[in-house]
Amino acid sequence: MSGNDRPVGQPTQTPNAPADPAGDAVLDSAFLRACRREPVPHTPVWFMRQAGRSLPEYRKVREGVGMLDSCMRPDLVAEITLQPVRRHKVDAAIYFSDIVVPLKAIGVDVDIKPGVGPVVEKPVRSRADLERLRTLEPEDVAYVTEAIGILTRELGGTPLIGFAGAPFTLASYLVEGGPSKNHEHTKAMMYGEPELWADLVDRLADITAGFLKVQIEAGASAVQLFDSWVGALAPEDYRRRVLPGSAKVFEAVAPYGVPRIHFGVGTGELLSLMGEAGADVVGADWRVPVDEAARRVGPGKAIQGNLDPAVLFAPREAVEQQAGRILRAADGLEGHIFNLGHGVLPDTDPQALTDLVSYVHEHTS
Ligand code: CP3
Repeated sequence: MSGNDRPVGQPTQTPNAPADPAGDAVLDSAFLRACRREPVPHTPVWFMRQAGRSLPEYRKVREGVGMLDSCMRPDLVAEITLQPVRRHKVDAAIYFSDIVVPLKAIGVDVDIKPGVGPVVEKPVRSRADLERLRTLEPEDVAYVTEAIGILTRELGGTPLIGFAGAPFTLASYLVEGGPSKNHEHTKAMMYGEPELWADLVDRLADITAGFLKVQIEAGASAVQLFDSWVGALAPEDYRRRVLPGSAKVFEAVAPYGVPRIHFGVGTGELLSLMGEAGADVVGADWRVPVDEAARRVGPGKAIQGNLDPAVLFAPREAVEQQAGRILRAADGLEGHIFNLGHGVLPDTDPQALTDLVSYVHEHTS
């Protein structure tokens, strides 16, 4: 295009100038650099559940709006996702949603009950139940594409993390019919009907991969696969009965080249297998120090974590002592992203999170 026929308002492109300055800033952000195990200006920090009940501004915009309804309103999703970025100056935003949103989108009768969590009216226990789980099409979650469109414009140089629940954790809610301590029905299917279980995991892998693809195509710069409850399994069962599904998800999104993070709670004995499933970054909870987590995961992968979220209820000096311990353990690691070992607890003082972000930034730059 010559200078004369350039539409009014279009900037002149000089040779070698960035075509998309915000996109370049995202790619060069501390968060994405750490995911790629490149040198960073400071250790990047974000918090699982940073958008949520700990923030008064979140509680205000959610007044009178059900949890799943809020996930389907692009304006609200964008606002809630941005709130912790504005307040805490975290290095990444995480898309506000829930792991059961793609299930709801394909017609599963799931609801989120306040103070309980996801509840499934008719649990998945048989092959006929499994057949009700159809493939997810991008049109099923058009609100996700719209919300991420708003977010990538508003976030500027801050990367957006997309996420989904991993097959095991989703299966646990579907098979139990709600939150579960012992996952007895899930394990009964896993051991008693291994073919049905394998097919369920495979079907959920397709749904999850479809949901992550929508988020990446809309502009998410990284994805996290939450296998929150997989720590309930022994390594050999994880390897045979769960890893193939999670690996299928990671493989499906590999061509996009965005970093893939994998996280679960109580997964000390599974860390190396969770890396093997195909993650670029492995998240650890607080039960395993980050240097030991890195040793278990092996070379070639970054580590995310891992302050115990309950530590944030202690005085500031104690929080800094514990955070300092993690930073010393992470010193020398190739790629460390500071996070909590699980989500922000609802009663956390938001100021403790803001202070923690500045502490990590100041002590690593
Ligand atoms: O502060 C908040 O908790 C925000 C609102 C909310 C979310 N999910 C957002 C969410 C609420 C009330 C839920 C319900 C829900 N869903 C619960 C909590 C039950 C309760 O009332 O305490 C749970 C356990 C689920 C199922 C779920 N959702 C799991 C297991 C995960 C994976 C992460 C984890 O915590 O282990 C999710 C993802 C989820 N739900 C996120 C958010 C904002 C993840 C993204 C993030 O980390 O920010």
